[in-house]
Amino acid sequence: MQDTTSQETATEKLTALQHPRFARSYERQSRRRPMRELMEPLRREMVGRAQGVVLELGAGNGLNFAFYQPDKVERVVAVEPDTTMRSLAQSRLEAAPVPITLVEGAVESLPFSDASFDCVVATLVWCSVLDPMQGLREVQRILKPGGSLLMIEHVRAPGKLAALIQDMAVPFTTRFAGNCHWNRDTAQFVRDAGFQNTAVHSYGSRFFPFITIAATRP
Ligand SMILES: C[S@@+](CC[C@H](N)C(=O)[O-])C[C@H]1O[C@@H](n2cnc3c(N)ncnc32)[C@H](O)[C@@H]1O
Repeated sequence: MQDTTSQETATEKLTALQHPRFARSYERQSRRRPMRELMEPLRREMVGRAQGVVLELGAGNGLNFAFYQPDKVERVVAVEPDTTMRSLAQSRLEAAPVPITLVEGAVESLPFSDASFDCVVATLVWCSVLDPMQGLREVQRILKPGGSLLMIEHVRAPGKLAALIQDMAVPFTTRFAGNCHWNRDTAQFVRDAGFQNTAVHSYGSRFFPFITIAATRP
């Protein structure tokens, strides 16, 4: 059982992760065709690879739910800290082809036992988590050995000028886009955290590069 101080810290963390205005605008954007055309093929590809008992982190408004494959996935636990996002995700649960339980929580401190999942899915999440390395340590802890991490993330641009522009934009993106750090090198975080067989594929544009990452817990 958590003591009072750690309960207070967890509550403070969840309060810092509430971005209702961003959540509503994300829902509007995600219904628009450009966003769907960009993201849906990547969601189909990466979420379609999930298998067994799956943990989805930062599930947002539930845009991945439709892409889980019932012949591969036993069940999904979807974690989302933002209350507005969770209520938007709720409306997408019914149409999901696999059983999904939606819970409140943050990647830095996951309420699950060690080695309890076969697969972790996170899409467009690691740009906005408070502590990316602590989040990846938690992912390692709750994954079974040999379990997979599947991600889609927008990341730091490889070019110097584009990366500089991203760095300059971060004070605005963190403030107005749900703590989004436009300039994070998430593939490097995954390697630094000790994941193996890290396969990275790049998409997107010079200023807005996207990657998919598939990696294995040793
Ligand atoms: C841009 S949205 C992406 C939502 C969804 N994964 C998708 O692909 O559309 C980022 C999500 O990450 C969540 N998030 C931010 N920090 C988090 C944290 N520390 N732990 C878990 N989720 C977090 C936000 O609440 C938000 O729902």
